Amino acid sequence: MLELSLDELKNTATNYEKLMVPALFVSWAERVLDEAGVEPGDRILDVACGTGIVARIAIKRTGSNGTSVTGLDPNPGMLAVAESKMSTTEWKEGVAEEIPFEDESFDVVVSQFGLMFFQDKSEALREMVRVLAPGGRLVVAVFDSLDNNPGYRAMTEIFAQVAGEEVADALRGPFSLGDTEKLKELCSKSGLSSAKVTTHSGKASFPDVLTMVLADVKGWFPLAGIHLTDEQIEEIVQQLESDLQEYISSDERLEFPMPAHFIKASK
Ligand SMILES: C[S@@+](CC[C@H](N)C(=O)[O-])C[C@H]1O[C@@H](n2cnc3c(N)ncnc32)[C@H](O)[C@@H]1O
Repeated sequence: MLELSLDELKNTATNYEKLMVPALFVSWAERVLDEAGVEPGDRILDVACGTGIVARIAIKRTGSNGTSVTGLDPNPGMLAVAESKMSTTEWKEGVAEEIPFEDESFDVVVSQFGLMFFQDKSEALREMVRVLAPGGRLVVAVFDSLDNNPGYRAMTEIFAQVAGEEVADALRGPFSLGDTEKLKELCSKSGLSSAKVTTHSGKASFPDVLTMVLADVKGWFPLAGIHLTDEQIEEIVQQLESDLQEYISSDERLEFPMPAHFIKASK
């Protein structure tokens, strides 16, 4: 990420917002906020906010003009897109392992599909609890494993054949916290022994297979230094269309199960 210019980061974040957020993240944002029981007046921190989808929906729910919600993310491109969509909110650059806010500053801390990417996951969870006020609520969402996700399982296998194991490994990363026993262990070792881990069904919904492939290729692969040729993209799309036939409707829409786990705790 550090080797990219701000314009390149913004461009990737714009593609993320356009291609990934509607297909994968909007519906989960509503559910994460439901789980956290967000209410008008709550001070909310969205950790790993990306382009800000959870924060934006939280603002609607709190009925505020955006000032009671804060987004935190290390990627300035993501934050620039978030800012362009909601300028009254504070979009703060920083990492979950060192949250740049005082102890007990928030009533709700949420983090949607970021934990898998944090270098020190335990420290990040401890930091989220540190900034929660007494009685505050924490909800952290992670994807279930590839075993329970036919779309990305197929895509990972095809990426391995067409682009190599290294690229397939990058695609496996977001699903690396799918084992609930390991997730519970992580909570215990992070001082969250009373946290509950629950599994929720959900689905990915792309207008077509090409959009699913381009969402990765344009929405975040540049951050990992991965670049595919047009020929590779075409081959991946063709194979996926064949492997995922049962999930493609007559109008080309691609929908497949994409469950997630929630860590929920209160202070
Ligand atoms: C899959 S995106 C999720 C973004 C957003 N929560 C959403 O639902 O659209 C993962 C985000 O985690 C952020 N991230 C990666 N490492 C991080 C860290 N150490 N601390 C905080 N955020 C981090 C990335 O910059 C990226 O925006």
